[in-house]
Amino acid sequence: MHANHSKILILDFGSQVTQLIARRVREAGVFSEVFPYDVSDEFLRGYGAAGIILSGGPASVTEGDTPRAPAAVFELGVPVLGICYGMQTMAAQLGGRVENGAVREFGYAELRARGHTALLNGINDFVTSEGHGMLKVWMSHGDKVLDMPPGFKLMASTDNCPIAGMADEDRRFYALQFHPEVTHTLQGKAILTRFVHEICGCKSDWNMPDYIAEAVEAIRAQVGKEEVILGLSGGVDSSVAAALIHRAIGDQLTCVFVDHGLLRLNEGKMVMDMFAKNLGVKVIQVDASEQFMGKLAGVTDPEAKRKIIGAEFVEVFQREAGRLTNARWLAQGTIYPDVIESAGKGKKGAHTIKSHHNVGGLPETLNLKLLEPLRELFKDEVRELGVALGLPHDMVYRHPFPGPGLGVRILGEVKREYADLLRRADAIFIEELRNTAIPLPAELAEGREVGYFHKNWYDATSQAFAVFLPVKSVGVMGDGRTYEYVVALRAVQTQDFMTAHWAHLPHDLLGRVSNRIINEVRGINRVVYDISGKPPATIEWE
Ligand code: XMP
Repeated sequence: MHANHSKILILDFGSQVTQLIARRVREAGVFSEVFPYDVSDEFLRGYGAAGIILSGGPASVTEGDTPRAPAAVFELGVPVLGICYGMQTMAAQLGGRVENGAVREFGYAELRARGHTALLNGINDFVTSEGHGMLKVWMSHGDKVLDMPPGFKLMASTDNCPIAGMADEDRRFYALQFHPEVTHTLQGKAILTRFVHEICGCKSDWNMPDYIAEAVEAIRAQVGKEEVILGLSGGVDSSVAAALIHRAIGDQLTCVFVDHGLLRLNEGKMVMDMFAKNLGVKVIQVDASEQFMGKLAGVTDPEAKRKIIGAEFVEVFQREAGRLTNARWLAQGTIYPDVIESAGKGKKGAHTIKSHHNVGGLPETLNLKLLEPLRELFKDEVRELGVALGLPHDMVYRHPFPGPGLGVRILGEVKREYADLLRRADAIFIEELRNTAIPLPAELAEGREVGYFHKNWYDATSQAFAVFLPVKSVGVMGDGRTYEYVVALRAVQTQDFMTAHWAHLPHDLLGRVSNRIINEVRGINRVVYDISGKPPATIEWE
């Protein structure tokens, strides 16, 4: 695939933000992929990159056995951009000198662009009274380049880092000590766009509406006349995968939708309406709630609950799959970040921070071949693809929902009664978040252009939900005393779900949600708001 696209190859030296480089490049309309830094020279020669970007990383080139770029990177004749560690290894490999910094530099810096290079020329945040173009950039490094390699000239500097950028414009090698891929570097996107379009000469030919045709053709070529099954969860990834595969092969696709009794309010109906009714997809809906509730009875330990839910899911899915005797393929909504992370596992470059906690993978005993039509796409692209395939915007832009569902949002033992109360409380919270508009930015009212802004509080939070606490507290309603359960509201804002802030929701919104839950959900008489960040708390309560 992608023979017709220009491609940017990103070599990953283990930075936590390498994926952002690929996302920024793709946002510029150019296909790009991330590979481990130690790919072979043969791979590089055969890949056909229009340009190569070397990522940052946690190591130090001043120490012995640390990562280096394959020699072919500098021999292919294509432009190369080194970022942070990528700059240091470029300097070290091409004959410059890197110093082991005693002090780390972390955070904002004001950087002066120098030498009118093709990469930075004309891009700035402000111009000093002496006429110097200045950039506000994000730095995160310990080591720095002391001497540039032969042929390089100075491209940028800061007070702390005299060589904060260097370029050999004849060979089209560029290097930046700061991180253009993070949004804190205000002109970062402009710089990466400049690199891929003007320096590497890539066309803007990567977008989701056009990708549909390419993906459809690839799926048809892969599957032929064989049949495919897919576990539909109602989440974004499996839904978009289903819509895409259905577009490609129609009735050769059968979806299995397992209702474990821990779904959100009306979720089953929504999934069936959207896929079976509207799109005409074959969907087998399995009500397995009895089975799940039975296995979960009396179990209070969070990890034990997760394991049971995962194992039962596999069991039910396997049973249903076994009935579809013609199926040869199992489709999954694996997306690109999962692919990159599992490829990076065990590499000495990457310091593992996150370990995946997904519902148990389906076993190999199914004897099915894997079809993963989203494995090249980032989440934002999956969403754009979903919209392009005609899925409703609200569905495609939903907050993530964990595989074990309400099972991790009912503390301790899971009971049907608790799940029913929680579902209703949660639906009220989400409805109020969606219905509470955020005033438009003043600039917009004045007719000036603004970037992205949030239209309502659902949009402005990354994840929001209610949690059921199986404790009773005393209340008073009308003339009577009540003794009922407590619900906690959780709403967080985060970029990556690894760290998160609790959302500062308006008090009147919280008040409205609390009133509605207590009035409308008999059995709950108290609502509290979770004001813990991650860390030290996690987003989910279990
Ligand atoms: P925590 O609670 O660890 O959650 O801060 C981070 C993100 O992961 C989601 N999550 C899960 N997703 N299976 C999933 O598919 C799981 O077992 C699981 N546990 C947590 C959580 O909703 C949040 O988005």
